[in-house]
Amino acid sequence: MSHKEYPGVKEDINHDPIQFLKKEHEEVLWKLESAKRALQSLRGLPESTVPQQREAEEAWIKDFVVSLVSGICLHFKKEEEALFPTLAEYIGKEHGPIEVMLDEHEALRLAFRDWEGRLVHFCEIRETDKQGTLNAVVATGEEALCLFRQHISKENQILFEICEASLSKEEKKEVAERIKAIDIGCAKKT
Ligand SMILES: [Fe+2]
Ligand SMILES: [Fe+2]
Repeated sequence: MSHKEYPGVKEDINHDPIQFLKKEHEEVLWKLESAKRALQSLRGLPESTVPQQREAEEAWIKDFVVSLVSGICLHFKKEEEALFPTLAEYIGKEHGPIEVMLDEHEALRLAFRDWEGRLVHFCEIRETDKQGTLNAVVATGEEALCLFRQHISKENQILFEICEASLSKEEKKEVAERIKAIDIGCAKKT
């Protein structure tokens, strides 16, 4: 199995924080697709695969998914703490798109954490119990990916369009500064 790095170019946050968040959507989608393919190929590993190789593949996928899920949660934090407060000054926080996005973030956090938990469990159980569990891991991952796709499509096509049309240059700069502070805070913790 070959494990490729995300090939895209990171958007410069100082240039435009909205485009930066859009680029993060692309990057997360690319990584989710990679994780999905890696899990599917685990199902297709030949019987003759030595246990050490199987274990190494499983460990790689587990680490990849754990880091991907924390990346997704960090992306939500950037939107919730850096972007939404400024956008709320224009469209309000309740009974509208921001409230819908916040509810979806909550549902997505649960879906991705569930996927991650199932995968960690899968890596720990005996070989004989793995097949059925792997099917559930793949199905849970696909459901979460599908929910995420719908979510980012709403953000890209509706919410971010409102941001582009409403936020001033100065406000975008403030949003960018807050996103950078969240990234720095996260880097310090790891
Ligand atoms: Fe979001
Ligand atoms: Fe997003």
